[in-house]
Amino acid sequence: LVVRSKELNLKDYSVCFGNAKTLLSKFLSDTKYSMFFVLVDENTKTHCLPLISEAVSGFEVIEITSGEVNKNLETCNLIWNKLIEKNAGRNTLLINLGGGVIGDMGGFCAAVYKRGIDFLQIPTTLLSQVDASVGGKLGIDFNLIKNCIGVFRNPLQVIIDSDFLSTLPKREFLSGYAEIYKHALIFDDEYWKLLQKYPPLNNINTKELNEIIYSSVEIKKKVVEQDPFEKNIRKILNFGHTIGHAVETYFLERDEKPLLHGEAIIVGMICESYLSSKFNGLSEESLKDIISTFGYSYQYRLIPKSAHLKILSFIKNDKKNIAKENNFTFLNKIGDSKINCTANKEEIIDALNFYNKTVI
Ligand SMILES: NC(=O)c1ccc[n+]([C@@H]2O[C@H](COP(=O)([O-])OP(=O)(O)OC[C@H]3O[C@@H](n4cnc5c(N)ncnc54)[C@H](O)[C@@H]3O)[C@@H](O)[C@H]2O)c1
Ligand SMILES: [Zn+2]
Repeated sequence: LVVRSKELNLKDYSVCFGNAKTLLSKFLSDTKYSMFFVLVDENTKTHCLPLISEAVSGFEVIEITSGEVNKNLETCNLIWNKLIEKNAGRNTLLINLGGGVIGDMGGFCAAVYKRGIDFLQIPTTLLSQVDASVGGKLGIDFNLIKNCIGVFRNPLQVIIDSDFLSTLPKREFLSGYAEIYKHALIFDDEYWKLLQKYPPLNNINTKELNEIIYSSVEIKKKVVEQDPFEKNIRKILNFGHTIGHAVETYFLERDEKPLLHGEAIIVGMICESYLSSKFNGLSEESLKDIISTFGYSYQYRLIPKSAHLKILSFIKNDKKNIAKENNFTFLNKIGDSKINCTANKEEIIDALNFYNKTVI
């Protein structure tokens, strides 16, 4: 592992790695905002806000209730109402302090409030640090369709501090690690081999964790820079997500112990690796490697047969699907992937059955 620079520069913003309070103070020192708002949920208010509050003098806190179920228009209303109540003008900065829910929804609220106010992303979960923090996708769920309403817009800066992760529940940490595995599988086989040395359940030390977070953000940056609006190559990031999103929505709708995003993506990656092995030349050996690597850390949930039709209908509604065709990213091999692949209904059900067999 090599020590690398603490900043990644994208076209119109940068991702800074290090102590959040220091980085935020530095950012604010040469800006002139008339008002500051910090968006938090009950968890980031307790665990994360104290770590940065000294960096901002005089800010309003907007607190929302945590959870994907609240990533919706009602919560946006609450945020906009609070901004209006405090007479927030265009010269306002919104600091989104939290996981992907806060980042996506806070960013969206900022992007459309008075046609757009500035915002900063300070992601505090592993998932939001390695994935949601880069790429400009903002939005909310609508009619139970994930990320159905949203926009592309970049923050002024992203601040990534792995110290926040010390209070993150283990399950959330694992959920974020799923996206890290995804980055390796679609893009970098050496990185995959390295990750196999650092299973997320073995305590990874700070230095290694910082390197892993940096490498993942770097991969995401390389991909989104080539294709900011997801017309082609960026779709490789959807590996595991066509089926994964549908599985996530299925459990969210049933509202009985929903799966975390990354947990659903693990299910999706197993199914889509299976489809890759059937239709895209991924070797049997690689498929086994993927399943055993995941199996070391993740607990699987059975997908009941009665869920198949629902899951298929969610895949049809997924915004990633062009017209009638299901749109998949398949692996060619570990570290290399191909966009615009298809699988039909029967093949998807076959993949879900394969997953269940692997899990039992
Ligand atoms: N915009 C994108 O490109 C992108 C990419 C991936 C995912 N997402 C979105 O991100 C969301 C998932 O994000 P997430 O996994 O971060 O979930 P989350 O935002 O729901 O956070 C998970 C939980 O951890 C708590 N939490 C956050 N930081 C904490 C900390 N430091 N200590 C203790 N608890 C903490 C939160 O309060 C919440 O209960 C989904 O809505 C997904 O659609 C967006
Ligand atoms: Zn994801």
